Amino acid sequence: MSRPARSAETEVNGWFVTATDTDAGKTWVACALVRALRAAGSAVAVMKPVAAGARITPEGLRNDDALQLIEACGRDLSYEAVNPWLFEAAVAPHLAAAGAGVRIGIPPLVEHARALAEESDVLVVEGAGGWLTPLNESETLGDLAAALGLAVLLVVPVRLGCLNHALLSARAIHADGARLGGWVANLVDPAMPFVEQNLATLQHHLGVPCLARIPRLDDPARVVFSSSFPETI
Ligand SMILES: Nc1ncnc2c1ncn2[C@@H]1O[C@H](COP(=O)(O)OP(=O)(O)O)[C@@H](O)[C@H]1O
Ligand SMILES: [Mg+2]
Repeated sequence: MSRPARSAETEVNGWFVTATDTDAGKTWVACALVRALRAAGSAVAVMKPVAAGARITPEGLRNDDALQLIEACGRDLSYEAVNPWLFEAAVAPHLAAAGAGVRIGIPPLVEHARALAEESDVLVVEGAGGWLTPLNESETLGDLAAALGLAVLLVVPVRLGCLNHALLSARAIHADGARLGGWVANLVDPAMPFVEQNLATLQHHLGVPCLARIPRLDDPARVVFSSSFPETI
C-alpha cells in the first residue's frame, strides 16, 4: 500500500477510520493506528470532527473517544482542536446539531483538519457511526472524508451480517469518490462460525489489505497492527 498522497489543495495526508456500524471498534482501532504511526516515527495529529455523547468533567464537557485519541497521540493538542463539534446527547449528529440550533458544515471542518494536519505528518480522523452518518440535511461523514482526501480504514466487527454491512460500506466509499486504503477485522464474537471463510470473503470483495486482526480483548492498549504496517503505510 502506498502512503496516502497529498495531491490536491484541500487534501490531507492520513486516515479516516470508519466502520460498518457504531460500537464497532473505531476508537480502539484509531488509537492503535496512532500508536503504530508514532512508533514508526511519524508526528501524528488526531481529530474527532463530531462527537455526540459527552460527560461533564472539571474541564467541561468531554467525549471519551476524543480523550482516548488525545491520549494515544501523546501531544499537547487542545480538546477543541481535536473535537470541534461536541453534543451532550448520544444521538445522531445532525439531530443533536438541530437540537442545539446549529448546522454542521463541511468547509469549516476541512479548514480545521487542514490546520491540524499542517503541524503533523499524518492525521488520524475517527468518524461517528458509519460512512453514511448524516452531518446535516444533505451531507454525510463520508463526504467529509472524501473532501479531505484521506485514505479510509474500514473496521468490520466480524459477526453475522458483517459481510453485507462491509460490502455496502465499501460500495458507498467508492461511490463517494473516496479511497478505501485498508480494513480491520475486529473479532468481537469468539463463537462466530466459519470465521476464516468470512475473512476470506471479506478480503476477496474488499480487495485492499487487512491491516489488523483484533481478537476479543479486555484491554484496548493490546490492539496492534501487523508488524509490517508501519513500514508500508
Ligand atoms: N476486540 C474487542 N474486544 C473486546 N471488546 C471490544 C473489542 N472491540 C470493541 N470492543 C468493545 O466495543 C466497545 C466499542 O468499541 P469502540 O472502539 O468504542 O467502537 P466505536 O468507536 O466504533 O463506537 C468498546 O468499548 C469495547 O467494550
Ligand atoms: Mg468511537
